[in-house]
Amino acid sequence: MEIALAKNYGFCFGVKRAIKIAEEHPGSSTLGPLIHNNLEIERLKKDFGVSLANSLEEVKAGQATVIRTHGIPKNDLERLKEKGGEVIDATCPFVTKPQQIVEEMSKEGYDIVIFGDENHPEIKGVMSYAVGPVYAVLSVEQLEKLHLKERVAVVAQTTRKIEEYNKIVNYLIPRHKEVRVFNTICNATFENQDAAKELAQKADVMIVIGGKQSSNTKQLFSICKKFCHDSYHIESKDELKKSWFENKKLCGITAGASTPEWIIEEIIGKIREFKV
Ligand code: F3S
Repeated sequence: MEIALAKNYGFCFGVKRAIKIAEEHPGSSTLGPLIHNNLEIERLKKDFGVSLANSLEEVKAGQATVIRTHGIPKNDLERLKEKGGEVIDATCPFVTKPQQIVEEMSKEGYDIVIFGDENHPEIKGVMSYAVGPVYAVLSVEQLEKLHLKERVAVVAQTTRKIEEYNKIVNYLIPRHKEVRVFNTICNATFENQDAAKELAQKADVMIVIGGKQSSNTKQLFSICKKFCHDSYHIESKDELKKSWFENKKLCGITAGASTPEWIIEEIIGKIREFKV
């Protein structure tokens, strides 16, 4: 049986960078889990002594703390600094960008519209950089209820779909004198999804690797299942069954955005050991 990896899979640039930063700061703690993958969090703890603080309150005074890829609100950052420990910023640069845009545009007097979920940590962080009116919306219906000034600046949550963002922008342009639009969408998630779809169409069996709680892995799995009936979502090599691969010609592999390379390699190794 042949084994093929999807063209794009696994860690995005921002997560790879955050893990490297955590590894470079042994003994630090992360504010919230660095990624949605328990095995990787355990590895960071075991090999680098990187511990987990679930909230600001849990951060000990003087403790070096790593900020996760989706950033934190400005106030929390200040409170963290007050604790006296080193603050190591692993916020993804694709998230820092909208934070800066929001700060700059609102200082210039623009009303800020963010296309995103106000309960998501990334958006809570981005919103906190506004010095004037700021609104997070998920639909045109929500936009209709707002009373915006003539000058509006718009950014999007990094994981939103461009087609949906266009609807928000298209609503605003004819209604305002000036609309500053920033494309802050990150394509990493979609690249993994497109590649999974392409491979699932050819494969006889698809293995989707990633945390059972990881929403982007679950999404990958549902895409694969649509195109390849024999698709399986697993977290570690122990879940593999030889029978899945019997009489199959092509096994496709993909992995969620928080699945480390070493887990993927272990799984491929075990599939090869089946000698099917
Ligand atoms: Fe950054 Fe995009 Fe990943 S925003 S954390 S590179 S999904």
